[in-house]
Amino acid sequence: MIFTVGGIKGGTGKTTISTNLAVWLSRHGADVLLVDADEQESASDFTAWREETKSDDIGYTLVQLHGATLRRQIEQMRSKHDHIVIDTGGRDTASQRAALFVSDIYLLPFAPRSYEIWTLSKVQALLSEIQSGRPTSLQIYSFLNKADTRGADNSEATEVLRENEELNFVDFPIINRKAFATAASKGLSVFEMVPADEKAISEVEALFSHITGIKKK
Ligand SMILES: Nc1ncnc2c1ncn2[C@@H]1O[C@H](COP(=O)(O)OP(=O)(O)OP(=O)(O)O)[C@@H](O)[C@H]1O
Ligand SMILES: [Mg+2]
Repeated sequence: MIFTVGGIKGGTGKTTISTNLAVWLSRHGADVLLVDADEQESASDFTAWREETKSDDIGYTLVQLHGATLRRQIEQMRSKHDHIVIDTGGRDTASQRAALFVSDIYLLPFAPRSYEIWTLSKVQALLSEIQSGRPTSLQIYSFLNKADTRGADNSEATEVLRENEELNFVDFPIINRKAFATAASKGLSVFEMVPADEKAISEVEALFSHITGIKKK
């Protein structure tokens, strides 16, 4: 399966989701390729810290690919791996578009703040262009990340996302939890952190299981 984690807004948690998904899939025994398609190179930074923390055993292979040629490069690599996870930058780039043409699944994290929602029309325009240029339709999942533990922001954002059927909003929110940043600073997923944040783990697992059909361990 090829997953692209994207959107048109910075800081929504794309790299957090990509890296946790790559590690989660590898912990289920899959051969995983993580593609850093963002010039900021955050997934590569994560991986460099991971190499220090975990020595050689990082669990996935990392490559950096950019621009329109990414599509052809991914097509060449797809048979060599069970899963490919592509982390894109928070803009409508040639890399993200190329990734979407070749992906099976598009993950769209949204942070539940009103300004986030304003990029929705741009995401929709991008999606209708991509969908019309594909032989099969791209499977989309949008969800809340950095959600509040409670409060009106989540429900307002949920309502707006739900109104847009093509975004296929799934109600598996990931709450704003310190564990994500703490783990990332060591190049770790939340599944590997000691002490474990069980709530963070169960939220991420619920989302990933829903999307991939792979059962929790
Ligand atoms: N659920 C969460 N709870 C707490 N912090 C989070 C969560 N998700 C992401 N973060 C933190 O928010 C910041 C931005 O996350 P991340 O780098 O994953 O976003 P991004 O969408 O990849 O950003 P960019 O657009 O710059 O690539 C990071 O410091 C990350 O640790
Ligand atoms: Mg990022």
